[in-house]
Amino acid sequence: MWKNKFHISPPYGLLNDPNGLIYWNNEYHIFYQWNPNACEHGAKSWAHLKSTDLVNWESMPVALSPTDWFDKNGCYSGSAIEKNGELYLFYTGNVKNNGIRESYQCLAISRDGITFEKKGPVIHDQNIPKEYTKHFRDPKVFIQNGIYKMVLGAQRNDLTGTIVIFSSKDLIHWEFEGEIIKENFGFMCECPDFIEDSNKKALIFSPQGIESKGYLYNNRYQSGYIIRDLFEIQKNKFIELDRGFEFYAPQTFKDEYNKNVLIGWIGMPEELDHPSVKSENWIHSLTLPRTLEIKENKILQNPHINLKKLRKNAIILENINFQDILDLSNYNIFGETYELIINFENFSGNIDINLRKNERQKTTFSYDSIEKKATLDRSLSGSGYKGVRSCYLENLEKIHIFVDKSTVEIFLNNGEEVFTGNIYPNNNSLGIEFKTNSSLCISKLKFYNL
Ligand code: FRU
Repeated sequence: MWKNKFHISPPYGLLNDPNGLIYWNNEYHIFYQWNPNACEHGAKSWAHLKSTDLVNWESMPVALSPTDWFDKNGCYSGSAIEKNGELYLFYTGNVKNNGIRESYQCLAISRDGITFEKKGPVIHDQNIPKEYTKHFRDPKVFIQNGIYKMVLGAQRNDLTGTIVIFSSKDLIHWEFEGEIIKENFGFMCECPDFIEDSNKKALIFSPQGIESKGYLYNNRYQSGYIIRDLFEIQKNKFIELDRGFEFYAPQTFKDEYNKNVLIGWIGMPEELDHPSVKSENWIHSLTLPRTLEIKENKILQNPHINLKKLRKNAIILENINFQDILDLSNYNIFGETYELIINFENFSGNIDINLRKNERQKTTFSYDSIEKKATLDRSLSGSGYKGVRSCYLENLEKIHIFVDKSTVEIFLNNGEEVFTGNIYPNNNSLGIEFKTNSSLCISKLKFYNL
């Protein structure tokens, strides 16, 4: 009942980070951290899917399993890059002997994109520089000025988090270049990434152990970015990528249009109490692909253009004026899995948008133009985790919502902010309702069944 329809989730067991995202030989490949044996964290494999359009996915055989001495307790997160027509996967081999951790940065190569030949470690546990603990993982490999770079999440011996970088001419021999984050980011930084877009650059990562502050950093762990070059001293601040409940360990890749695209994990480490576990034996999903653009020191995230392929039977309304309550079932608009785009003209006042609603349940997105505050409230959503998340938003022009069986993703304005979270309503919670204390004009509303 809660298995998502158009978000990627595991057939059973636990899904976490997206790995090895790449557009290669005219096909998209997604791998993800998968524990097929239980709905909890354990020795991870790399599950594999491919697609020609980022929308219709074909399940592939598992690409990497924890079967070798250098990855026996998990083929942990990593990335993909093409070299001479072959697909190179870099990942962290997690090894634990009597509770003592070892981390190996490993390589596996494929010619056909189906079977992957493990080549073993390219950076040995013994070669982790002595300033760091064995929390040293998640290689993201890319090329800059003809040199391959690998960024890794790391923990210093004083138990503070940072990101380190290695470089290589051949993807086989790697040389340690140093830390690229000088300050302390909690106790660990996971899943680093780096993008360039029209001469602006951003370092993306998932720090653990940052304290919450007002609307900021309210999830167990964070994912965000700093607008800066690899070796630049930090001037700009760390900005969260998503303002909802579950979003972690995102990774980027270049799509068929050479644009940066991001996919994240809709989940949070150590939060396993989702109702899909007991009733359906699976947990967690991946976000939809989001196209990234860096504008005025901010990353804007918008649903990937190919997602339009999901759309069925459009209902389009224009210039709707309403006071108090608008029940969209009057327009035959309701559902379990859909896309809803709402444009406002000169928004003032407030709005509550109730999704997946029945007499007792609702998931509410709201905006208040006096407080300049956007909020997602899942206190009454149904089963599962509850709570409220908010962020500051100067004004409201557009809300772009995707509702799946147990997930919502809400994009505001043109990708200024995004709220992602899991909800577990009953399957008769189908209503959509708008409420306001003032009177509002919706200049355009588009609804698509997905
Ligand atoms: C992030 C993470 C990574 C690690 C992987 C293990 O969620 O902890 O740092 O490689 O998950 O599944």
